[in-house]
Amino acid sequence: MSNKASKLIVANWKMNGSVELINSFDSFFSNIAFPHHEVVMCVPYPYISFLKGKNYFIGAQDCYEEKNGAYTGCVSAAMLKELNVRYVILGHSERRKYFSEDDAVIEKKFKCVSNEGLIPIVCVGETKTERDGGLMLDIIEQQLSFYKNVADEFIIAYEPLWSIGSGKIPKISEIEEVLEFIKQKTYCSKVLYGGSVNSNNVESLINSCHIDGLLVGGASLLVEQFSKIIKI
Ligand code: PGA
Repeated sequence: MSNKASKLIVANWKMNGSVELINSFDSFFSNIAFPHHEVVMCVPYPYISFLKGKNYFIGAQDCYEEKNGAYTGCVSAAMLKELNVRYVILGHSERRKYFSEDDAVIEKKFKCVSNEGLIPIVCVGETKTERDGGLMLDIIEQQLSFYKNVADEFIIAYEPLWSIGSGKIPKISEIEEVLEFIKQKTYCSKVLYGGSVNSNNVESLINSCHIDGLLVGGASLLVEQFSKIIKI
């Protein structure tokens, strides 16, 4: 086993996967004694109850912003809690883009998740144009404004939009600059990096003492890739 610090590695399957894939991951996890890092599997809602959570935590990719009621197709934080979910990703850039979620909606979701005693993982990040225009930290500060005085446990995931699914990642020093900024602005318990993490670039990311963990999309769908990531 590695003597390096243990990190939080969050798998975000997005709208991918199958019962068969869930089963392959489950048997993979039951065959590793103690994973060096803490792992969270955020799979699509229908698959959550298939997860046994042995050697990993169960996560969700979103939840609705109300406690309950006539909201056809939605899932509440309380329902996720019943399924042993521990972490909930909120404000992912795909939710912001395709479902028009703004900071106000994400804040409502945050309260629902926190009130259930679950841990929100709030995603923030800038576009390429914003970065090139020198607006990166302003945009991130704006996305963080609600969280500045929040004392409940929560995690921030820094995901530059131009890095998600593109194969491009910022330099480690550039990631560290943003992560330090996030730590100065909030009382979050951890700051993760996400965007094109894979088994080739994971080592340098994991070795940075500023990066508390990783949010992994595409590479979390492949047992072999993901097993390399969580074993580093
Ligand atoms: P990616 O996705 O690892 O496929 O870039 C990360 C994410 O969107 O959370």
